[in-house]
Amino acid sequence: MRIIIMGPPGVGKGTEASMLEAQFNIPHVSTGDIFRALFRTDDPIGIEAREYIDKGLLVPDELTNRIVETRFRTEDVHHGFIFDGYPRNVAQAEAFTKFLNERNWKVDTVINVDTKDETIIERLSGRRVCPKCGATYHIVSNKPRIENICDNDQTELIQRKDDKPETIKNRLEIYHRETKPVIEYYRKAGLLVNVDGSGDIENTHRQVLKIIGDLKW
Ligand code: AP5
Ligand code: ZN
Repeated sequence: MRIIIMGPPGVGKGTEASMLEAQFNIPHVSTGDIFRALFRTDDPIGIEAREYIDKGLLVPDELTNRIVETRFRTEDVHHGFIFDGYPRNVAQAEAFTKFLNERNWKVDTVINVDTKDETIIERLSGRRVCPKCGATYHIVSNKPRIENICDNDQTELIQRKDDKPETIKNRLEIYHRETKPVIEYYRKAGLLVNVDGSGDIENTHRQVLKIIGDLKW
């Protein structure tokens, strides 16, 4: 199964992709997570990417496409993937299509989760993440068992630097300008399916499971 999950920042792409990964044992590939992991290990690509991420800007395509190609050197993704946060502009979508075509791989579906900007702001401002394992929580809708402590490894949760109100605004603007045209790109390719992301986590998951259930794979 080869899936792309699209949608505005904070709509719940990562939450949904992690649930699918656990349920179907298919790797979840988030370019944002890869950049953050590279940064934590002082890798030069991570350090360069952080300059953009902290301001809410897109990391340049050349760097982003390169980390995707590197990720594909690991065999697990050859049998299926759930991409989250990539491609994020039309140039990336074209590069990804070319990359997949060269290997005779096809995306089965592109799931576009959407909701209004107000909800996004609420989700991102209440998000807390574990700096150790990357798990994501929300102070209201997705609380850890113990307040501000990761369920998996008891690490204290933090707020992402790009979840500050000013940066959220930049990310949303860039989403509307650069990422929305990718929806049209996949609609034209006959791959797009829309999901209403305004309900709770379970509601989004139910809609996605229905889409996956209808796929032939
Ligand atoms: P990335 O990490 O991909 O961030 P994003 O796309 O902005 O998305 P988020 O991770 O913020 O949100 P999400 O949709 O996964 O929501 P989540 O599940 O956490 O990218 C970060 C940066 O890296 C970019 O800004 C850019 O600089 C760079 N980058 C990454 N990819 C790139 C690319 N391809 N090209 C160039 N640059 C790139 O949920 C959010 C919160 O809401 C959580 O607290 C969660 O618990 C809660 N929640 C989730 N679903 C629901 C629900 N249905 N109801 C209530 N609460 C919910
Ligand atoms: Zn953790």
